[in-house]
Amino acid sequence: MVAFEVPAGHAPAAISAARTLGISGLMVTMPHKAEVIDALDDLTESARELGAVNSIYWSGEQLVGHNTDGEGLVRSLQLDRGYQVIGQRCAVIGAGGAARSVVHALAQGEASEVVVVNRTPERAEIAATLAGSRGRVGSPADIAEVDLVVNATSVGMGASADAVDPTPFDPGLLHPDQVVVDLVYQPLETPLLRAARRMGATAVDGLGMLVHQAALTIERWTGQEPDIEAMAAAARRSL
Ligand SMILES: NC(=O)c1ccc[n+]([C@@H]2O[C@H](COP(=O)([O-])OP(=O)(O)OC[C@H]3O[C@@H](n4cnc5c(N)ncnc54)[C@H](OP(=O)(O)O)[C@@H]3O)[C@@H](O)[C@H]2O)c1
Repeated sequence: MVAFEVPAGHAPAAISAARTLGISGLMVTMPHKAEVIDALDDLTESARELGAVNSIYWSGEQLVGHNTDGEGLVRSLQLDRGYQVIGQRCAVIGAGGAARSVVHALAQGEASEVVVVNRTPERAEIAATLAGSRGRVGSPADIAEVDLVVNATSVGMGASADAVDPTPFDPGLLHPDQVVVDLVYQPLETPLLRAARRMGATAVDGLGMLVHQAALTIERWTGQEPDIEAMAAAARRSL
């Protein structure tokens, strides 16, 4: 795999080039996840519902866009931690692209409830609808009431190792029966995860989701399961 730096606004040109060059598949990241859609031939149901693509593969002559972000998180919880989301009450903090994908995947994984808590309530409404009847907009007080808390805001990104940076919500709401996931992976150890551990909760960093969302794409391209441990070790080294 190689990385292509594509300037904002040039996603369609990059897709056209991939067709010409016979590239076997692409992974897509910010800021192209929505813009790339118009250049593709088809979308999977999740990509269509989310309006965002992070994974592109060929189906015959058709270039198809898919989204593996949320499924990557659910898979990583299941395979790396033995944690099943089925029947769990969940809170997703944030309502951007990553949050929407996680909300959708938690509902697909049959979480009993998916509460969306976001700074901008209008965006929370849109995200919560992706969980259908399991979704609703909540307030920070809901965080104390759930089993699984997922930070899908960018708060904590770029924090230094000993930082006392703001966390996306008051960590005093957390307790030992909870699992707290921070999607932020730079740094892996965020102020929120440190605070969650202090409160006795189980803290999970964003590396597992990062690895599994990519592994799902590689599996689709090759028909083979990639070596998750090798991928995680490589990701950890490079981070
Ligand atoms: N581990 C992984 O594999 C993985 C995958 C994808 C993304 N991520 C990470 O997830 C994070 C979010 O990514 P994204 O693509 O969803 O970004 P995004 O679309 O820009 O959304 C950012 C979200 O963060 C909220 N936010 C930003 N600053 C805030 C603040 N100071 N206080 C409260 N809320 C704040 C925004 O709230 P408003 O709606 O109010 O603006 C929005 O809901 C990033 O750190 C990214 O690196 C990780």
